[in-house]
Amino acid sequence: MARLHARIGTLRQLEILLAVYKEGSITAASKALFLTQPTVSMQLKKLSEAVGVPLYDQVGRKLIFTQSGLEVVKTAREVLESIGHLEMKLADMEGLKTGTLRLAVVTTAKYFIPHLLGEFLQHYPAIDVDFKVGNRQQIIDRMAKGEDDFYVFSHPPRHSNLNLHEFLPNPLVAIAQQGHPLSNQKNIPLQIFADQPFLIREFGSGTRHAIERHFEQLGVEPNVRMTVESNEAIKHAVMSGLGVSILSSHTLAFGGSSGLVKLDVEYLPVMTRWYLASLKARQPSIVARAFLDYVETYGRESMSTHLS
Ligand code: PGA
Repeated sequence: MARLHARIGTLRQLEILLAVYKEGSITAASKALFLTQPTVSMQLKKLSEAVGVPLYDQVGRKLIFTQSGLEVVKTAREVLESIGHLEMKLADMEGLKTGTLRLAVVTTAKYFIPHLLGEFLQHYPAIDVDFKVGNRQQIIDRMAKGEDDFYVFSHPPRHSNLNLHEFLPNPLVAIAQQGHPLSNQKNIPLQIFADQPFLIREFGSGTRHAIERHFEQLGVEPNVRMTVESNEAIKHAVMSGLGVSILSSHTLAFGGSSGLVKLDVEYLPVMTRWYLASLKARQPSIVARAFLDYVETYGRESMSTHLS
């Protein structure tokens, strides 16, 4: 029988396999790849015949990958990644930086990372960016797949398998509706602030995690009135007088503070920092290295000027 590399028809089959693994179903993968479902099923069947083992079992509507199927997925990813690296190396040799930068960022970082990217892409206009946003827990879950160049957190998980590059302060500031009775006071006692109806982000949010830890350390409990799943919705709820909150000052930058005031509360802001995290096991692409260099050289300074 011919060797395995000769039996596997095309790299496209590996791409299709990865899409099915990533999307979790043939229907979703077909949509993502702009292919018909029969085409996707047919290519997977051919791949399964070529490797000589079943790649997955169909349990109801779910695809459960077999142990061998997972090995094929792993190898498919390595093969396609190496070809991606080769593409970038060749491009780099010609003095061009092309390829894709894959970033997954926590929701609060979406307020400033696009501005950083805007500046970076002026230097490297041929680079594409794949940009995913989720709360802290969603980004941690995504890391398990290991497909992104960088994850942006202010509370990265404490794994030793991560390279962490701290790049910017992230002050979490107290906010209230404009004209709030506390808005003209200085050094408001934390207990007085904590007694106000408080709007907090959902479980899994890094902002919530930091606020809870801070209050706990100080032995004070906020008077939580509402849990709200987005920074923007919290800002609107605060604007309309539903309560006070603590949010990253980035959510107020770039003109995002209208209708709100920052309160001067003792023991606040909560000072946290932003990190670019990358998996040690993932070899950085040329594009990823260029982005890290950019952030370390210019990004800090340029973003600090936007912090309100
Ligand atoms: P969040 O994360 O958007 O999940 O609140 C922000 C952070 O990690 O500080």
